[in-house]
Amino acid sequence: MSDGTANRWDADDYDDGHGFVAEYGASLVDLLDPKSGERVLDLGCGTGHLTADIAERGATAVGIDQSAEMVEQARAAYPGLSFRRADARSFTAEDRFDAVFSNAALHWVPGADHDAVIEAVADALRPGGRFVAEMGGTGNVDRIVTATLAELRERGYDRENPWYFPSVGEYATRLEAGGFEVRRAVLFDRPTELENGADGLADWLSMFGDSLFAGLADDEREAVVAGVEDRLRPDMFDGETWTADYRRLRFVAVRAA
Ligand SMILES: C[S@@+](CC[C@H](N)C(=O)[O-])C[C@H]1O[C@@H](n2cnc3c(N)ncnc32)[C@H](O)[C@@H]1O
Repeated sequence: MSDGTANRWDADDYDDGHGFVAEYGASLVDLLDPKSGERVLDLGCGTGHLTADIAERGATAVGIDQSAEMVEQARAAYPGLSFRRADARSFTAEDRFDAVFSNAALHWVPGADHDAVIEAVADALRPGGRFVAEMGGTGNVDRIVTATLAELRERGYDRENPWYFPSVGEYATRLEAGGFEVRRAVLFDRPTELENGADGLADWLSMFGDSLFAGLADDEREAVVAGVEDRLRPDMFDGETWTADYRRLRFVAVRAA
């Protein structure tokens, strides 16, 4: 297993400035359609808002996340729910779940480790249980990634896209190899308005792009971010709001009996 994409998660900042992630996830909860009495695992639950949405619909919802800070914040916000720290690649479940749900978390796991994720999810599900997830899909935030890597390269830093954004064909094949029947898989553009006005892109890079800037001094990092803003402003900033070129992969897969 590789080390994974190291990102420092600031749970307060996440809730304050990036609430759109969970807000968009509400329609994924609709797709999950949790039923009263079902047991649902929220994989990469972050601060737990969607775990709570699932519980509100009558299911018993449990959240797991790799980040201690996210788990702590989720527990404080929703003391009646169960959250624990665990890795998507190696978690185990004592009692099988009816569904595993995951929003905006899987692309943080390196591509090489996804067979392990799929195996862990399959093991956690009862036969016939469903895996309902959304993650960045191929081409996700491509313009932001391209501009950031170019700006870094110009300053002598050779970095790579830190995320795994698979295509429908690639991920469906992996799910099938892991014992799932893919009932639905779709890749779609979802232009996403960033919060915090003119600072939106800088804030987004600060929250999500941490590993891209590893080892850079603060002033150098600020200069890179300013350079990225200059490159993208003409196409992505309308004078008030930055709009990021999100593209999502959403799927529903059922564990074979
Ligand atoms: C953008 S947040 C999404 C959180 C939440 N699902 C939501 O919709 O608001 C991504 C989350 O994935 C978690 N994560 C990343 N890699 C993980 C891994 N290997 N195992 C478990 N959680 C992971 C992070 O800690 C973070 O909380």
